[in-house]
Amino acid sequence: MNEKKIILGIETSCDETAVSIIEEDKNGKIKILSNVVSSQFDIHKEFGGVVPELAARSHVEKIDLIAKKAITESGVNLKDVSAIAATSGPGLIVCLTIGLNFGKALSASLNIPFIGVNHLEGHALSPRLNTKLNFPYLLLLISGGHTQYLSVNGLGKYKRLGTTIDDALGESFDKTAKLLGIEFPGGPKLEGFAKQGDADKFKLPKPIINRGGCNLSFAGLKTAILKISSSIRSKQEKYDLAASFQKTIEEILEVKTQIAFDEFKKFSKKKGRAFVIAGGVAANIGIRKKLIKVCKKNNFRPVFPEAKLCGDNAAMIALVGLEKYKVKKFDNLDLPASPRLPLDKKAKFLKGAGVRL
Ligand code: KG4
Ligand code: ZN
Repeated sequence: MNEKKIILGIETSCDETAVSIIEEDKNGKIKILSNVVSSQFDIHKEFGGVVPELAARSHVEKIDLIAKKAITESGVNLKDVSAIAATSGPGLIVCLTIGLNFGKALSASLNIPFIGVNHLEGHALSPRLNTKLNFPYLLLLISGGHTQYLSVNGLGKYKRLGTTIDDALGESFDKTAKLLGIEFPGGPKLEGFAKQGDADKFKLPKPIINRGGCNLSFAGLKTAILKISSSIRSKQEKYDLAASFQKTIEEILEVKTQIAFDEFKKFSKKKGRAFVIAGGVAANIGIRKKLIKVCKKNNFRPVFPEAKLCGDNAAMIALVGLEKYKVKKFDNLDLPASPRLPLDKKAKFLKGAGVRL
C-alpha cells in the first residue's frame, strides 16, 4: 500500500458535528484537506449543558451538509477516498449512532473499507497530524468528558497512568463557570474572569493531592465553590473566586503531572521524552504555562496540538482511520456504538462512591 491514501473521518460523539478529509502521500506526509466542525453551543446554552436528544437531532439535521462542505473544501472526488472512519465511542449513544450509521452507509455505497474509531484515540494521536512525535509519549487528555494521563505506546497500545475518579476537568470548569453566572460552556470565559481577580482570596481544597498516584478528583472542589458562590455578590468577588479556582487547578496539575512524569520515566528512554497536552482544556493559557514549567524541570518536550485540533474534530478521527487502514484493521458494518470505550482495557474502572486508590 504505497499509493496515496485518502481518509474521510466523521465525529458525532457529543455536541460537535464534524467531517474531515486527510491525505497521506506516498512519502508518508499527512495533509489535512478539510476539517469542518459545527458546534451546538447555541442549542444547549439555555440548559447549561448538553441535552442528548437535542444534540442527536442536530447531528441528523447537519451531518450531510457538513459532509458535503468537507468534500467540496477538500477538492477530493469521492471515488478517490480509500476508507471511511467514524467515531464508535465513547460518547452519547444517540449521538454516536448518527455519525456511525452515516459512515457505514457511505462506505457501503462507495464499496470501500469502514473503520470504527475510539474518540479518545483520536485525541491521543492528534498531535501527530502536524508534529513529528515518536512512541512512547506521555499524554494528558483534559476535555469536557475525560481527564487521563496515558502512556501512548503505539496504535491501539495505551497504558493509563491516572484518571479522574469523579468529574472531568472541563466539566469542573463549566460547572464553576455556571455557578459564577457564566454561560455554557463557561471554561474559556472563566479564564477571562480569573485574570481580573485575586487568586489568593479563597482557599480551595485539592482533593487526593497527597494520595492516589496521578489519579485526580475535582468533585470536592466543586462543592467548595458551590458553598462560597452562594454568599458572594460583587463582580470582583466572582473574579476572585475564578482566579482562586484557576490557581488551584494549576497547582493540582503541577503536582499530579510530576507524579505522572516519574511513572512514565520508568519505562521510557531518557532521550526525547515528550509530554502532549490535548483536549479542549489544553487551550487554557495558565495551565499551559504551568505545565511547560514542569516540562522544563524534567527535561520533557511539551507538545500542544493546534487549537483547532485540541477540541473535538474529525481530522483526528480520520488520522486514526488512516493508521488502522495501513494495517488493514477494518470493521464490519454491524459494529455497535459503545458509550464506554476505554483506551486501556486493562485499567480498573475508577469512578463512583467506594473507589479505592
Ligand atoms: O475536547 P473538547 O472540545 O470536547 C470534549 O471532548 O469534551 O473539550 C471541551 C471542554 C469544555 O468543558 C470547555 O469548557 C473546556 O474544554 N475548555 C476550557 C477552555 N477552552 C475549552 N476550559 C478551560 N479553559 C479554557 N480556555
Ligand atoms: Zn473529545
